[in-house]
Amino acid sequence: MTLTIEAPAKINLHLQVGKLRSDGYHDLLSLMHLVDLSDRVSLRTEGKRGTVELEGDFDCLKKDNLLYKAASAYLRERQKRIPNAPPAPGLTISCLKRIPAGGGLGGGSSDAAALLKLLERFFGAFPERGGLDEIALSLGSDVPFFLHTGAEIAQGRGEVLEPVEPLPAYPLVLVFPSWRISTPDAYAAIDRFRLEKADHPRFLSPGQLREAYRRPVAQWPFFNDFTSPVLLQFPESRDLLLRLQDQEALYSQMSGSGSTFFGLFGEEKTALWAFERLKSMGYRCHLGKMLARPYDPVYNGR
Ligand code: C5P
Repeated sequence: MTLTIEAPAKINLHLQVGKLRSDGYHDLLSLMHLVDLSDRVSLRTEGKRGTVELEGDFDCLKKDNLLYKAASAYLRERQKRIPNAPPAPGLTISCLKRIPAGGGLGGGSSDAAALLKLLERFFGAFPERGGLDEIALSLGSDVPFFLHTGAEIAQGRGEVLEPVEPLPAYPLVLVFPSWRISTPDAYAAIDRFRLEKADHPRFLSPGQLREAYRRPVAQWPFFNDFTSPVLLQFPESRDLLLRLQDQEALYSQMSGSGSTFFGLFGEEKTALWAFERLKSMGYRCHLGKMLARPYDPVYNGR
């Protein structure tokens, strides 16, 4: 038996970072939206009972891989919630990567959430609700988002989610610079930037965010608090942002803690034009669209 699912990337249309909390996380107010660039995660029943295998090339130890962690956490939770459940068969997981790692697009988190969906489809839902969300949050702050709808306002450390109407399928260009920054380093850079520059964070309330989201895209007052510290650290990105703005994007911004930048366009031909121009300047890009809903798992093979 093989189960497969597309695991889409997200962009942050707005990302406001609050104070550092005593648990080491920052409070957020973010508007996350799925986009059509996706990885493909597959789950096969194969191998020795109770074992979890990863197929493919991974750049870390198996025990540190988020897919492996997700499967192990799921099986532990299943054991706890359904003590008399029949033993799990051997599971083999594979992942076709298309979303650049460390690009602020939530690729690894989306893969983990996608695998949780496959496991739930295979084993059946837990008797009580909420189990998957708890496992998802134990894997990372933005994993729960990928279990939900296509567009959500996120608060807390990213796990307090409220669905909002997804956007129509606006044409989109994603641009992938070659630099990378780790998530903890990016948060530390914000704290440092605010201290050094005596920079007072801009602020939207959740109500203002909801109201602003209903305005035409070109009138959004949204921002990303990671952008200024990142532009300071990687000045070449300032050029990229200016170039995206030059291409008649309705809205352009960096996603998450970087390094991906995105532009939303009013028409496919303007997006295609921007995509071609940016590619000819040497940037690696994706031409696609906003995605309203996550994908469903599909059975294939035996
Ligand atoms: O939850 P996740 O594993 O993605 O977080 C990685 C790191 O990013 C955390 O250890 C923390 O340093 C930082 N982080 C944060 N505030 C958040 C989310 C993440 O400071 N809301």
